[in-house]
Amino acid sequence: MRQSMKAKSCIYPQPVLIIGTYDEHGVADAMNAAWGGVADFDKLIICVDHSHKTMKNIFLKKEFTVSMGIRKEVVACDYVGVVSANDVPNKLKKTGWHVLKAEKVDAPVFEELPLTFECTLMSYDEETELMMCQIVNVNVDDSILTDGKIDVSKLEPITYDSVYHKYRVLGDVVGNAFKDGLQLK
Ligand SMILES: Cc1cc2nc3c(=O)[nH]c(=O)nc-3n(C[C@H](O)[C@H](O)[C@H](O)COP(=O)(O)O)c2cc1C
Repeated sequence: MRQSMKAKSCIYPQPVLIIGTYDEHGVADAMNAAWGGVADFDKLIICVDHSHKTMKNIFLKKEFTVSMGIRKEVVACDYVGVVSANDVPNKLKKTGWHVLKAEKVDAPVFEELPLTFECTLMSYDEETELMMCQIVNVNVDDSILTDGKIDVSKLEPITYDSVYHKYRVLGDVVGNAFKDGLQLK
């Protein structure tokens, strides 16, 4: 038997995105955003509360980075989601993350997070708080590459389980896209 539940966007996997920004003094900030994902081949969409320091920084610079949260850094990834730079100005210090400058945008890259999307702000809707992001560069650490390609098993991205408030690692390969379905054609 099936049943109806309260409306909730519990889609799996829900990525753990870490948005990196600089403030007006060049101080780096990072925040955890799980209400976001792919919008197109070269675009992301993320729901960001306008009161976050991150959003103030994005309004200022119109540029930012989006990195994937990873297994090894789960504590720091959660920390940047529970502490605001509005209250703790140098909030990143506790993460131990090393800040590098992004290649193509005025925003921080965190050395410990190997997959980073360098983005520009396309639009922000005040009512829905949805931010459209244009990816202008994908900044990748060699450590997660196999034969020059991003290897998700090396990356070990975490996903957010919004029902149990847990972080989970992405699972096994179970099929071949654009191929397995052909057997039913
Ligand atoms: C698992 C998790 C997911 C979150 N997802 C979002 C989100 O999608 N959008 C959002 O506005 N805040 C989200 N937050 C809350 C922000 O990360 C948090 O308020 C943070 O302190 C904002 O930092 P800032 O003020 O320094 O930018 C999330 C927090 C956690 C722990």
